[in-house]
Amino acid sequence: MHGPLNRNHLMFIPVMTEEAFDVIVVGSCMTDLVSQSARLPKEGETIHGHNFFIGFGGKGANQCIQAARLGAKTAMVAKVGNDSFGDSYTQNFKDNGVYTGFVGRTSEAATGVASIIVNDAGENAIVIVAGANMKLNKEELQDALPVISSAKVLICQLEISPQMSLRALRMAQENKVTTIFNPAPAIPDLDPDFYRLSDVFCCNESEAELLTGSSVNNVEEARCATRELLRRGCGAVIITLGAQGCVVLEAPESTSKHVPTSPVSAVDTTGAGDSFIGALAYYVAHYPAMRLEEVARRAGQVAAVSVQSMGTQSSYPHKRDLGAELF
Ligand code: RIB
Repeated sequence: MHGPLNRNHLMFIPVMTEEAFDVIVVGSCMTDLVSQSARLPKEGETIHGHNFFIGFGGKGANQCIQAARLGAKTAMVAKVGNDSFGDSYTQNFKDNGVYTGFVGRTSEAATGVASIIVNDAGENAIVIVAGANMKLNKEELQDALPVISSAKVLICQLEISPQMSLRALRMAQENKVTTIFNPAPAIPDLDPDFYRLSDVFCCNESEAELLTGSSVNNVEEARCATRELLRRGCGAVIITLGAQGCVVLEAPESTSKHVPTSPVSAVDTTGAGDSFIGALAYYVAHYPAMRLEEVARRAGQVAAVSVQSMGTQSSYPHKRDLGAELF
């Protein structure tokens, strides 16, 4: 396999690699600025918090790190700023064994940030400023084609330009790479090609609600939503339901499966969905014959560990932290 060509990108340093990856993520990196307070503030209100920390986040990077911690050989295709957050982020990938040859830098925007508030019930509210993530362009994606086309699984989300996510999914599908698409944060009027390009379309209740226009508050409503999303052309649909587990529907089946999860005491649910998706990708890559229902059950067990401590990536388990029955 040949590495990317030098196209004189601003601060984008091409790297030759002979590696074939299990999981490639084309997606976002954010520095998470997290405040903990007893409750979320109301509109126009200032409240006291009791703790603050900075962590590594961004849905794309979170998913990549979780897959890597389970043992997947991973690469990230992303863009960070030419700033100290960008420096730390690149180092974070290296520390987690993620290949960074396609993590570009730009001086045109700052590394993405997420302002996160977590309340005492472990619930959160998040505002992202995507910054450099939006500067990832089609030439850089093209440079990554050799690794995308030889990977087992590609994951995309919606914290970079949707056109770049669509392009990455198309590249993967043309090369028979399994695609997992996480439409987060959800946007109304999602391009219909996203459904057709998704082998697995995985979202949470609120995203499913926005995309289908129907309420998704329980297992029965999630079953209806999976049918509607599958009808739009996905290979399979998973809707995650927090403590209620998830609902899985695979084409051409007409009966969805409810996959419950073990009850745990949640401290911080931020990034649990990303832990689930990263684990999903790991299992799909390593156990290609496993039923999606079982893949989802195991991914749910991994995500359940992540909600029991604070932070996003800081709460993600390594393979060594998990029971042998998950491998
Ligand atoms: O899904 C959680 C993530 O959403 C956080 O890490 C934050 O960065 C936002 O992207």
